[in-house]
Amino acid sequence: MTASLPPEIAAGAIAATEAAAIAAFALAGRGDEKAADQVAVDAMRTGLNAMKMQGRIVIGEGERDEAPMLYIGEEVGTGEGDAFDIALDPLEGTTLTAKAMGNALAVLAIAPRGGLLHAPDTYMDKIAIGPGFPAGVVDLDRSPADNVRTLAAAKGVAPSDIGVCVLDRPRHAAIIEDLRAVGACVHLISDGDVAGVIYTTDPTTGIDLYLGQGGAPEGVLAAAALRCVGGQFQGRLVFRNEEERERARRTGITDFDRKYDLTELVSTDVVFSATGVTNGALVQGVRRTASGTMTETLVLDSQAGTSRVVRTMRLAR
Ligand code: FBP
Repeated sequence: MTASLPPEIAAGAIAATEAAAIAAFALAGRGDEKAADQVAVDAMRTGLNAMKMQGRIVIGEGERDEAPMLYIGEEVGTGEGDAFDIALDPLEGTTLTAKAMGNALAVLAIAPRGGLLHAPDTYMDKIAIGPGFPAGVVDLDRSPADNVRTLAAAKGVAPSDIGVCVLDRPRHAAIIEDLRAVGACVHLISDGDVAGVIYTTDPTTGIDLYLGQGGAPEGVLAAAALRCVGGQFQGRLVFRNEEERERARRTGITDFDRKYDLTELVSTDVVFSATGVTNGALVQGVRRTASGTMTETLVLDSQAGTSRVVRTMRLAR
């Protein structure tokens, strides 16, 4: 029988991302990406190990030989209860944190065993839009300009009214040129494409479309969020060499050109939890006051059909 996602699982996920965010925030602005990532990993792992579950990391910090903690395949949780698969990024935005810039998050998604694609740590071409559009209104195989035109038509606006979020990278020069040629407003982000995809689900961001190449693990995490709130997502793995193809083979992938849609990346109900490390458009970052430490977490639960922002104050005592 497929496990459901009881409220304790969401509560455990929230506690784990909160702990990771607080730990990483303590090292914000110190210029040390690795150290900030490491403390987030430690804290998230402790949180996950407190959860009553048979948890297995399917997207984590890397393969066993390269990541001492939260490696792919690591078992977490108390070992009691139902079996779950977990995709995580204890610090999504290591550079953002090291430079004390906005939008760094601690993120995880948790689904009944088998619910998440075991994506290798390669790049992925991604396209995403928010809810409310007919299926297929955008497609990874169409040009950026064509996608803007069809999305604008579906929305009943001009292409110049479409906002597109793209990671600011030289590899995206042609995409950005095409988007600007059609008149779209290109919102460049320096890092953090999990949030970039989620922006498409929130009309207040002015972002209708996410486009471009980022991490494949981040693609699955973003797809988990969209699975909860609605929207469309397509991703295709990008391999730069034979070593990356071998990585994919080890995760069970055989079709290297496959275009994955949302339901293939996340095939069951899922809980998504993202706590702000530094202030961002989705959630506020960690705040320390005389009374304690405040965190803000976006919690999405496809089974419960809920989207919540959870504010937790850990009182100084
Ligand atoms: P890290 O936190 O691991 O540095 O990832 C940040 C990020 O911007 C992701 O959001 C994105 O998917 C990826 O890096 C893009 O990779 P690259 O920096 O190599 O273009």
